[in-house]
Amino acid sequence: MSSSNNAPAYVKHAKLKAWVDEMAALAKPDSIYWCDGSQEEYDLLCAAMCATGMMKKLNPAKRPNSFLALSDPADVARVEERTFVCSKTQDQAGPLNNWVDPVEMRATMGKLFDGCMRGRTMYVVPFSMGPLGSHIAQVGVELSDSPYVAVSMRIMTRMGRAVYDVIKEDGYFVPCMHSVGMPLIDAAGKKIDDVRWPCNNEQKWIVHYPETREIWSFGSGYGGNALLGKKCLALRIASVMARDEGWLAEHMLILGVTSPKGEKTYVTGAFPSACGKTNFAMLVPPPGFEGWKVTTIGEDIAWIKPHKDGRFYAINPEAGYFGVAPGTNYHTNQNCMKAIEADTIFTNVAETPDGDVWWEGMTDEPPAKLTDWQGKEWTPGCGRPAAHANSRFTVPATRCPSLDPQWDDPDGVPISAFMFGGRRSDTTPLVAEAFDWEDGVYKAATLGSETTAAIAGKTGVVRRDPMAMIAFVGYNMGDYFKHWLKMGKAVSKPPKIYQVNWFRKNAEGKFVWPGFGDNMRVLKWVVERCQGTAHAKATALGNVPEFDDLSWQGLEFGRDKFSKVVSIDQSDWKQELAMHDELFKKLEGFVPQELAASRLALQERLAA
Ligand code: GTP
Ligand code: SPV
Ligand code: MN
Repeated sequence: MSSSNNAPAYVKHAKLKAWVDEMAALAKPDSIYWCDGSQEEYDLLCAAMCATGMMKKLNPAKRPNSFLALSDPADVARVEERTFVCSKTQDQAGPLNNWVDPVEMRATMGKLFDGCMRGRTMYVVPFSMGPLGSHIAQVGVELSDSPYVAVSMRIMTRMGRAVYDVIKEDGYFVPCMHSVGMPLIDAAGKKIDDVRWPCNNEQKWIVHYPETREIWSFGSGYGGNALLGKKCLALRIASVMARDEGWLAEHMLILGVTSPKGEKTYVTGAFPSACGKTNFAMLVPPPGFEGWKVTTIGEDIAWIKPHKDGRFYAINPEAGYFGVAPGTNYHTNQNCMKAIEADTIFTNVAETPDGDVWWEGMTDEPPAKLTDWQGKEWTPGCGRPAAHANSRFTVPATRCPSLDPQWDDPDGVPISAFMFGGRRSDTTPLVAEAFDWEDGVYKAATLGSETTAAIAGKTGVVRRDPMAMIAFVGYNMGDYFKHWLKMGKAVSKPPKIYQVNWFRKNAEGKFVWPGFGDNMRVLKWVVERCQGTAHAKATALGNVPEFDDLSWQGLEFGRDKFSKVVSIDQSDWKQELAMHDELFKKLEGFVPQELAASRLALQERLAA
């Protein structure tokens, strides 16, 4: 059945059905399956994938209701080089996005998708980003030939039948077309054998049309390339909506801090991919911080809107976490480890002989024997990592022990501070508070970070990652800076802005700052600055804490070490400013003049 004739009776949206017909006529799947989002359906799809080998059920005694998927070794991360923003003009996409004329791109997509689902089932996946029916939520419908995508979307979004009650007969939805790009029957009718993880290693395209708000993704089944509600809709398309409508769609965690007095403060944190959002969002305060509590609203994406009380309110549009496995353990992220004890899909981690999972950094001692992420036998010292560096878990938010009671509140939570952090071995200090909104936007716009395994390509290279959004702004980055400057005036009480860096290293290449739970020391200072109770010293880079302004209970961290994480090195900053200039050069003609003024002021402060 390759038309919408088999749509359930509750699907009453004629345009949606017509679109499904049109896409099915193009991609030519064997059949169409309408997802209802039920537990039964999830169980059936997982069982079917276990039967074909795409997933494996883990030992229920060790990991109840959990699965392991191993991807193609060439389909392991987001492909930024293959990600396109196809606005009408190249200037609208801007110098930091890959751009192709939408007319040309539509022709390319038309050819690629023609027959690309032959022999496969096309899943119709209705989803809501944000609480169902909320005035800030957005509905999308993803058509995909990957059952792994269908079950992952059930975890990551509000997916299923209830979405049709929201869009009813003619409500708005974002059409999201996805194919792994590996038909099981070729154009001549010849059968092709399926593989464990179908994808297309010659052709990968992650395409956005911002004007018509459409997403087309071809050739990858992994993460943000394939789960189109996440980066494609909730960031690239949503950033365009946010620009047009006066809000912010950001690559940010949202957390709540409750002080021993019971005061609650919400902050967001923008960190580039694999730079600590999940860990920070689920932080467990260290010994010495009795009475302090951190709760989790979101760990990857925030939609932030001006509220009538003069503050920004944020929601997490997602319903699950697609988090980095390596480095996650009961010391670094206890809440996360508890969340993934059951009901989790693991991708590209290693498997233990008794049917459980393992990754680098999960335990100090690796198991004596494992099956690695490529299905090969692995022993400690064999010279290969057991889990891929970008291996991940997919888990429902409701499993997180630190989940904030308001995580599902359609109105969101009021934000007191925006934190921006990169992964920098040197140059940027532990924390600096911006002097004002414009200085904060400058700091965020010039954020630098060493690249990680979350992106296909070379790791450890410092690049500019404005607002941790380099790969996620669906329009011109210069216009995005202007939008940020404008949004500072959209509320009477804008959040304070902070720059942080947990990743400074010493001469031996070891992290100087303990990080993880100890980031609470910085977070407490930030919260107290917002409340007006903490002291700071003005420096060239902003207001910073002095040694005695942070709480050091439970940690041996002397003034000596402290000076190593807060020092400002003149020659480092000369290079840093040159890198800011490179960014602005790339964006020449689009950078708001306020940022040029901030650049000059920073240089003058450094010289003084
Ligand atoms: P995306 O999901 O890719 O957007 O990433 P994320 O920002 O949520 O990254 P995540 O929190 O999953 O962290 C990725 C890696 O950074 C893990 O290997 C962590 O162990 C490590 N990490 C997180 N926080 C800290 C920290 O405070 N210090 C150090 N040294 N490493 C950290
Ligand atoms: C990121 O890369 O920032 C992620 C993972 O959060 S993915 O969803 O694959 O983009
Ligand atoms: Mn992310």
